[in-house]
Amino acid sequence: MELTITLSLLLTSAVLHSTLPLSFSTPNSAYPPPYGLETTAATTLNDDLIPVRREVYGDGRIFDISHRYHPDMPLWASQDGVGQFLWLPHSMKNGSLANNSEMKLPTHTGTHVDAPCDLFDHYFDAGFDVDTLDLGVLNGPALLVDVPRDKNLTVHTSNSKVPIGKRISMRLMYKKEFDTSYVGFMKDGAQCLVDNTDIKLVGIDYLSVAAFDDLLPSHHVFLEGREIILVEGLKLDGVQPGIYSVHCLPLRLLGADGSPIRCILIK
Ligand SMILES: *[C@@H]1O[C@H](CO)[C@@H](O)[C@H](O)[C@H]1NC(C)=O
Ligand SMILES: *[C@@H]1O[C@H](CO)[C@@H](O)[C@H](O)[C@H]1NC(C)=O
Ligand SMILES: *[C@@H]1O[C@H](CO)[C@@H](O)[C@H](O)[C@H]1NC(C)=O
Repeated sequence: MELTITLSLLLTSAVLHSTLPLSFSTPNSAYPPPYGLETTAATTLNDDLIPVRREVYGDGRIFDISHRYHPDMPLWASQDGVGQFLWLPHSMKNGSLANNSEMKLPTHTGTHVDAPCDLFDHYFDAGFDVDTLDLGVLNGPALLVDVPRDKNLTVHTSNSKVPIGKRISMRLMYKKEFDTSYVGFMKDGAQCLVDNTDIKLVGIDYLSVAAFDDLLPSHHVFLEGREIILVEGLKLDGVQPGIYSVHCLPLRLLGADGSPIRCILIK
């Protein structure tokens, strides 16, 4: 059976190996209020014109695991967050026939995918950009696992049955300041996953699957073979661990080493 797991970890694989860090525990409480909801413009003309923003669709079967883009969402290595990323050069209030915005966003912002060319210059020159990523890997059966937040993923945690960890709610994606203390893969943990499983998609709930201390080594281990796809900055809080169908679609940005990505889990 093909499987994708999510760390809260999302992994996709041809075969799910028994030595995976499968630790299940109860997810966090409810979602924080979605960004912008309190400022959502209700129309002055008609109270019914209030946009509905959802995290879950389809009678509780479809979970949106992408974060909303917002000026206060964290940006890699920044204390200031993403900041303004949308402008409205053509606005109806200023006489245009339609509102037409422009956007400027680093490709590795929010929920996003890494292409092999992100960390290997010869892959960049050869053109292994986000347009070359396999949608067959980004879409398919998936396993969402909840791993303990009290240690980074090393060969030890990846190799042994880890005890069910008390989930420490870090919620770092809701904090504007970049935080290096997030939990991710150390190099040996990444190597263990590559060597011992057929997992092809690894997703994680902060901006990097690699722990900050092993940032480049872990990314290298995952991306060198050009078979494993990394999805980072997923919104996995509020979703029960278990088996789902994952659907992730990056933009077809020619030449880009990363792309914002919309991901959903279907029960
Ligand atoms: C259209 O632009 C106006 C500003 O001119 C803004 O107030 C309004 O929210 C925009 N509508 C949409 C749908 O973005
Ligand atoms: C409309 O144009 C004015 C003057 O150029 C500008 O200051 C204002 O920001 C514009 N408003 C919108 C909503 O684009
Ligand atoms: C995980 O590693 C980061 C640095 O990469 C460190 O700051 C953090 O404290 C580690 N987390 C734990 C729980 O050991």
